[in-house]
This record gives sequence, C-alpha cells and structure tokens, in this order.
Amino acid sequence: MSEAPALRPYLAADTPVLAAIFAAAIGELTGDDYTEEQQEAWMAVADDEEFGRRLAADLTLVATLQNSPVGFASLRGKDHIRMLYVHPSVARQGVASMLVDALEKLAGGRGAERLTVDASDTAVEFFRKRGYVAQQRNSVTINGEWLANTTMQKTLREDKP
Ligand SMILES: CC(C)(COP(=O)(O)OP(=O)(O)OC[C@H]1O[C@@H](n2cnc3c(N)ncnc32)[C@H](O)[C@@H]1OP(=O)(O)O)[C@@H](O)C(=O)NCCC(=O)NCCS
Repeated sequence: MSEAPALRPYLAADTPVLAAIFAAAIGELTGDDYTEEQQEAWMAVADDEEFGRRLAADLTLVATLQNSPVGFASLRGKDHIRMLYVHPSVARQGVASMLVDALEKLAGGRGAERLTVDASDTAVEFFRKRGYVAQQRNSVTINGEWLANTTMQKTLREDKP
C-alpha cells in the first residue's frame, strides 16, 4: 500500500461499493473454509435491501485508500461486531486491524465491557490474535445453506468505573 488507509463513517451512497467489497471478500478469501454453494448463498446477502438498512442502523465504518472504500466494519449496539469485510486486493495489509481497533474504541466509549463477534472460519484466527476467545460454535442458515461460525468474545475492561 502506497499510503495508509483512512477511516470515515458510512454514507448511504456507499452501499453499492460495500456490497461489491462484501461479495469479493467472500468470493476470494473464504474458499478454503466454505463450499462454493455456501459462498454463493453468503454473497447473495448483499442483494437484499436489508443489507443497506443494516449498515445504516449499525455504527458502520468505511476504510478508504485514496478516497476509495476498500473495507468496512459495523458495530451493532454497543458490543457486537456484525460485519467485517476487506477487499481481496488489499488483504493482509492491516485494513481489518485498523477497522476493529476503531470499533473496539467506539464500543468502549459506548460503555461496553466486552465485545462479541460471530466469526467466520476465515476470520477466527484474525480475532484470536486480537485476544478474542471462542465461546461456542454455531450453524446458521443463509439463503438456504448452512454455514458454521464461532461466537468469540473479548473483554475490553475488567472493572466498571
Ligand atoms: C478476515 C478479514 C476481514 C481480514 O482482513 P485483513 O485486512 O486481511 O486483516 P489484517 O491484515 O488486519 O490481518 C491482521 C492479522 O490477522 C491475521 N489474519 C488475517 N487474515 C487471516 C487469515 N485469512 N488467516 C489467518 N490469519 C489471518 C494475521 O495474523 C494478520 O497479520 P499478518 O498479515 O501480519 O500475518 C478478511 O480476510 C475478509 O474480509 N475475509 C472474508 C470475509 C470474512 O470472513 N469476514 C469476517 C466475518 S466475521
């Protein structure tokens, strides 16, 4: 990367490009962990109008490079990471780390004592390295396909102020 990514809040006009990042991330980064049928079903989530509604309802951050979105992440309520997707062209360059650093600070600012995520099998190692601990395995149906994920949790602070 020639320059460091920047972060900004989501805008409604970002929805199509974030949908494209979502589909590309799933299509190109999760193939070792999910079947093609599962990837197709997961990618199709972005075709639903609900996709943009959720991004707007959650606290969604967009990572940009030279003003173009390259990744995004969202916080539901004060303590659950709902989305984390990075474009394959910039994978393993710290974009997700930057997004989750920011969400952890925002969650702390909202008073969260811990943060949870239902991590894809692709993302488990990313979250484990950041101190998230696996709580349980889940099977969820997405567009008729069963996909496994792992609920993980990180303690942000031990004591209430
Ligand atoms: C998971 C994902 C968001 C990571 O994004 P990223 O920007 O590549 O992550 P980072 O560069 O910040 O990674 C930081 C560290 O996490 C670990 N990590 C990241 N991706 C990993 C992977 N696929 N396998 C193993 N470790 C990984 C590495 O230790 C990495 O550091 P390193 O590159 O110096 O070894 C990205 O792979 C993605 O979009 N995946 C598809 C969608 C998905 O599964 N989203 C999660 C839904 S919960």
